[in-house]
Amino acid sequence: MSRTVVFVGAAGQLARDLARVWPEAHPDDRVIGLKHADIQVENRESVHSALVPLEPQLVVNLAAYHRVDEIEDRPDRAFAVNTIGPRHLAMACRELDAELVHFSTDYVFAGHQRRPYVESDSIEPLSVYGASKVAGEMLVRLTWPKHFIVRSCGLYGIAGSAGKGGNFVETMLRLAAAGGPIRVVDDQVVTPTATLPLARQVAQICRHQPHGTYHAVCHGWCSWYEFAAEIFRQAGVSADLKPQSTAESGAKAPRPPYSVLANANLERLGIDVMPDWRAALARYLAERPAAPA
Ligand SMILES: NC(=O)c1ccc[n+]([C@@H]2O[C@H](COP(=O)([O-])OP(=O)(O)OC[C@H]3O[C@@H](n4cnc5c(N)ncnc54)[C@H](OP(=O)(O)O)[C@@H]3O)[C@@H](O)[C@H]2O)c1
Repeated sequence: MSRTVVFVGAAGQLARDLARVWPEAHPDDRVIGLKHADIQVENRESVHSALVPLEPQLVVNLAAYHRVDEIEDRPDRAFAVNTIGPRHLAMACRELDAELVHFSTDYVFAGHQRRPYVESDSIEPLSVYGASKVAGEMLVRLTWPKHFIVRSCGLYGIAGSAGKGGNFVETMLRLAAAGGPIRVVDDQVVTPTATLPLARQVAQICRHQPHGTYHAVCHGWCSWYEFAAEIFRQAGVSADLKPQSTAESGAKAPRPPYSVLANANLERLGIDVMPDWRAALARYLAERPAAPA
């Protein structure tokens, strides 16, 4: 069946990879990308007037404000974009009887446990960003049952995160090329997740799977320091890389010390297509455009 699918926040890194894989997975769909200039999710009238005339059957919300440290001083903006925005989208989807895909984060967890978090584990955000995403999830659940909430972690994609001005892999390679010392935290354990396989996984989830909450991350885990070391190893780059603690990093927002997610619901349904994080990094490095000379 041919559907109209709207990507909200279409210029972001995950959005760009979703646009790339969607025609393979759903060849009959008509995809429309709405960028920030086309729709401001925190504004109910903007959401309504941008979405309703398109009459979509599926809306994918990729818009977010996720500068985690900056947000500690801008809670109003974070709650407007990450909480009220998803609520407006869910209300529009309810009016249109459209399914809604919404993205959330490992930062909904406090990170005090030492086994991967499953979807049903208790949420306890440490940062304002995490709280704004938790509240966004809740408003989506309360507003419109036909939703998929997809939590992921440590995203990096060819397009680079618009909100963060690039991605961790490119930042590390740029710092290594500059030749200075590189200090990366070794007391936050995560799962770096490339946006291309995540996009394929999301396209799969939207293929008639039950609505609800899904964790979708690459397999395995590492500290950010170990991720940086693996980037340099795979890229064949030498760098003056040393570990530092979160306290030494001076980051403003508190972050979970351990926020590994288990793709438990995907595994239960037999549709977990996420690769190992090292394999995903190799694929990313092979595909990334050559850095300018
Ligand atoms: N990046 C990560 O490490 C990470 C980890 C876990 C979960 N997530 C979640 O995954 C999703 C996608 O993240 P991403 O890294 O692909 O993000 P991204 O590259 O920063 O893209 C976000 C997009 O949203 C747009 N946007 C921002 N504010 C908006 C607003 N008020 N109304 C409409 N559009 C707005 C941005 O446009 P402008 O740039 O023009 O403002 C940008 O194109 C988000 O929900 C994020 O919270 C991300």
